[in-house]
Amino acid sequence: MLGKILLTSLAVFGAANAQRSLCSATTNVVQSQADLDALSTCTTLSGSLVFGPDLVQAQIDGIRTIRGDLIIANALLLQSLTAPQLASIEGKWNMTSLTVLNSLTFSSLRSVGEIYWQTLPALSSLNLPAVVTQADRVTITDTILESLEGINLVTVQRFNINNNRYLKEVRVQLANVTDGLAIEFNSPKVAASFPNLTWANNATFRSCGDVQLPLLATVNGSIGFFENAFTSLQAPRLTAVGTGTEGGDVTFANNNNLGNVSMPQLATIFGTLQFVNNSKVDDITGFPKLSVVHGSIDISGEFEQAEFPAIRDVRGGFNLQTAAKFDCSEFDKIESGVVKGKYVCSGAVVNPGTEGTNPTTNGNGSGGKKNSAGRFTVSTSLVAMTVLAMLTAFL
Ligand SMILES: *[C@@H]1O[C@H](CO)[C@@H](O)[C@H](O)[C@H]1NC(C)=O
Ligand SMILES: *[C@@H]1O[C@H](CO)[C@@H](O)[C@H](O)[C@H]1NC(C)=O
Ligand SMILES: *[C@@H]1O[C@H](CO)[C@@H](O)[C@H](O)[C@H]1NC(C)=O
Ligand SMILES: *[C@@H]1O[C@H](CO)[C@@H](O)[C@H](O)[C@H]1NC(C)=O
Ligand SMILES: *[C@@H]1O[C@H](CO)[C@@H](O)[C@H](O)[C@H]1NC(C)=O
Ligand SMILES: *[C@@H]1O[C@H](CO)[C@@H](O)[C@H](O)[C@H]1NC(C)=O
Ligand SMILES: *[C@@H]1O[C@H](CO)[C@@H](O)[C@H](O)[C@H]1NC(C)=O
Ligand SMILES: *[C@@H]1O[C@H](CO)[C@@H](O)[C@H](O)[C@H]1NC(C)=O
Repeated sequence: MLGKILLTSLAVFGAANAQRSLCSATTNVVQSQADLDALSTCTTLSGSLVFGPDLVQAQIDGIRTIRGDLIIANALLLQSLTAPQLASIEGKWNMTSLTVLNSLTFSSLRSVGEIYWQTLPALSSLNLPAVVTQADRVTITDTILESLEGINLVTVQRFNINNNRYLKEVRVQLANVTDGLAIEFNSPKVAASFPNLTWANNATFRSCGDVQLPLLATVNGSIGFFENAFTSLQAPRLTAVGTGTEGGDVTFANNNNLGNVSMPQLATIFGTLQFVNNSKVDDITGFPKLSVVHGSIDISGEFEQAEFPAIRDVRGGFNLQTAAKFDCSEFDKIESGVVKGKYVCSGAVVNPGTEGTNPTTNGNGSGGKKNSAGRFTVSTSLVAMTVLAMLTAFL
């Protein structure tokens, strides 16, 4: 009798011990819902939770905190995942190659060390009603997500959202991005809106339908706009791009619909200002306060007007090549003194090129209407039709 009681209590003690060791294990690999249920008395998992390949409908019950990672990779059968109580994943939340996952409901989740989601071709929406407001790094790539509702961070080191073909909106209240911000190759309509962003290290916007940066004041690295569909871009508060030690460029390349760029407060660029292949840009006049450029001013295209009325120091070169007829006389005045590197200014260029290329003109490179003196202002009087006619005649 006594022996039996002793045995039973030993068994209970053993089970509790086993439970405690599960909760404190470095890694728990779960192959079934039963394995998950065995963890449900652990309010905190000290280590990582790793999903095996066979789960179909999974529910993470009981656990409030995962100190390690939550890794769900190549669970090709997993259709739905719920976690009613889980509030914090301190490590990485890695979901990779979950081909049929179509339902994700984490009702209490607010904080994640790192979100890394890759190849989730069946997941079109998130159910994160508590809203994830803390994450150090976010990478979301190759999903069919239509929105990121439920992820709304204030600060982040890295925020990289790419190749989500159906993503129509990215709107987060980020105030700072200490490392890199990149929105690339999502739906061409994607509206990227950062209403609270005041500074970012690097920022890259590629194939976006709209970009809103109303409060952005400083970019510590580079900011670039590539192949976007938007017609205008404003950064009304931006004052400086880059640092003296690392440089930092402002680039507009291959934005085929872009007509208007306005950075009215931008005074200093520690790298290069480049415009290339933005065929609808007629005027590069949105930089009224730009005074110091540590790299080059490198603008090429079909624009008819360009002005930098506040410029006083360009430490690199100056390259202006446009297919339009263009009066370079105002820029010629600052060739020595302001521009320390190589100076090129040429209108009626057959194939306008970036810095380092030699312009080939059709012989109508200079001339045109003079502007008011004393400003670093140049314009031409020709309209695009005439230029086109001229080029056609030349060809
Ligand atoms: C995600 O987890 C899988 C499986 O462990 C691993 O191969 C992959 O490298 C992880 N991805 C990241 C970014 O950690
Ligand atoms: C963003 O960075 C600025 C400057 O470092 C800092 O003053 C501010 O508190 C930061 N904002 C947040 C929300 O962390
Ligand atoms: C972001 O800005 C909006 C107004 O545009 C404001 O309502 C919200 O509180 C701000 N968020 C943070 C975290 O400052
Ligand atoms: C910033 O962008 C530049 C140019 O694209 C790149 O060389 C650099 O590594 C980036 N820095 C960070 C911190 O992402
Ligand atoms: C970027 O610039 C802002 C504003 O000057 C500054 O507060 C922040 O510390 C800088 N961040 C980095 C990573 O250098
Ligand atoms: C460009 O945008 C600025 C600021 O929104 C506006 O004042 C200006 O009229 C626009 N210019 C053109 C040519 O659309
Ligand atoms: C500009 O467009 C031309 C022709 O499409 C292309 O060869 C070149 O690489 C583009 N330049 C840049 C900087 O993207
Ligand atoms: C220069 O332009 C004028 C008209 O503006 C035209 O008559 C002349 O043929 C052009 N020259 C060349 C070499 O294209």
